[in-house]
Amino acid sequence: MGSRECSGQSSNRYDESNNNCISVSDRLIQSKRLLVTAPIYYVNGRPHLGHLYSSVAVDIIARFARIQGQHAFTSFGTDEHGQKVASAAASLGKTPASFVDEAYLPFEEMLRCAEIDYNSFIRTTDEMHKKVAQSLWQEMSELFYEGHYEGYYSKVDEAYYKEEEIVDGKSIHTGSSVEWMQEPCIFFKLSALQEKLTEHYRQNPDVIKPKTRYSEVMGMLAAPLPDLAVSRSRFDWGIPVPGHDGQVMYVWIDALANYLTAIGYPRNDDYKQWWSSSVHVIGKDILKFHAIYWPAMLMAAGIEPPSRIFAHGWWNVDAQKMSKSLGNVVDPFLLLSEYGVDQVRYFMFREIPFGNDGTFSNDALQNVVKAELVNEFGNLVQRVMVFCYNKYGSTVECKAHSEDILNLWDSALHESIKCMQEQDISGYLKSARSAVVATNRYIDSVKPWACDPEHARHVMGILCLCVQRMAILYSPIIPQKCTEVGNMIGLSHPAIDPHWHKNYPFPLKRPNPLFMR
Ligand code: MSP
Repeated sequence: MGSRECSGQSSNRYDESNNNCISVSDRLIQSKRLLVTAPIYYVNGRPHLGHLYSSVAVDIIARFARIQGQHAFTSFGTDEHGQKVASAAASLGKTPASFVDEAYLPFEEMLRCAEIDYNSFIRTTDEMHKKVAQSLWQEMSELFYEGHYEGYYSKVDEAYYKEEEIVDGKSIHTGSSVEWMQEPCIFFKLSALQEKLTEHYRQNPDVIKPKTRYSEVMGMLAAPLPDLAVSRSRFDWGIPVPGHDGQVMYVWIDALANYLTAIGYPRNDDYKQWWSSSVHVIGKDILKFHAIYWPAMLMAAGIEPPSRIFAHGWWNVDAQKMSKSLGNVVDPFLLLSEYGVDQVRYFMFREIPFGNDGTFSNDALQNVVKAELVNEFGNLVQRVMVFCYNKYGSTVECKAHSEDILNLWDSALHESIKCMQEQDISGYLKSARSAVVATNRYIDSVKPWACDPEHARHVMGILCLCVQRMAILYSPIIPQKCTEVGNMIGLSHPAIDPHWHKNYPFPLKRPNPLFMR
């Protein structure tokens, strides 16, 4: 452990010369591997719409990477330590350990219910994670010093606030109550990394998306960064600090380390291959932890900072924050079972631009599903597949090469790729949808049912290619429906290449309606 005077010079072991000139977005899309992480969820409550949102976003980004031929690894998990969780257990008369063993289950269940493929689910109480957090701690230790913490702390946010951030005993940022805390603890010399962090973001502005969040982070860095109290001695529900009996790690230090646990740090160097192209999906409320504390911790440990941090906005209900006390929490399980998995997945990214705040309402969900999934997507599949199946039986041949409508799908693909380079899921969806709308219009204008048989066959071949491309492009967002469409036209594995350009006799199956009207 360093002394209070530690300058941080010797500890700045992350070498920015590792950064090459290629932009972050290009690196992420060109890399063979992509790590996509979700924030790990506090288990003091049940899953809600906000948790579902971050989780589905991760799944969509990873599924898109896979259809592009990348290996994508997704990590999820639960944040099970800290005072907030310990208090929730105590209020039920349970030990924290028995409480978390039950409380994490609905979060894992939520992933399964929402068709989310996950490669790793880290519980911070796992033995493996504890070892990883302790290893990282030791790597950071040159920037630690012992001290005494006094200040305002919010249990709900698991965060300290400065005097000027508090009005009437509550945080001005989150509205949660704070209490005065005093305890001996270990400090992380965050202040020593201020320059380095600022320079890192000056040189790599596209690490943080959307752009407004980048400005927010630069704003945070414009003021002096206080050192961070990274251990606790008032309670013991946490990961023990190596070499300091009676101290546990600050829950955020423990939680952030989960991203490294997921990819095998420090057991072998293989983790670096995932870490060098990593995307953290988070909510805007935890930007400081991910864009300031976490890169600083990594720099202190000689590990490069995350490649991309995308901070999304918040779902409100009736223009208010979702909260247990207001009784307006949207239950993801009810939503998924009532409307269907794909319907909810689609709605979440269609309704509000990914990155912005928005308001949830059942009416809006029903309207979007009806207008865009049933009447556009479902209708297109139905029109094409029923016609082909009734007229041509089990196969339809496509001999088309350069047709305007197919070129339009190609442009939609290019546009979508551009959006996904910046995790703009809503933009991706918008460009995919524009091609569906255009294809429905194309059918209306060509009227294959009124064409001579030879021309109708040609047109229907082209339309089968459109449906195939639609099933590929929509598959990250609405995987179940796209599998159903794929089954109708013999597309077993959605991939941009080689399927995208493949013209072949489509083996047709009897089409079933995709959506109930
Ligand atoms: N445990 C921390 C994260 C640690 S990551 C190393 C945490 N957990 S949380 O359960 O409170 O929140 C998890 C995620 O859900 C956060 O990204 C948060 O932004 C998101 N949401 C919580 N409420 C939300 C909405 N109402 N709307 C959208 N997302 C919101 O923070």
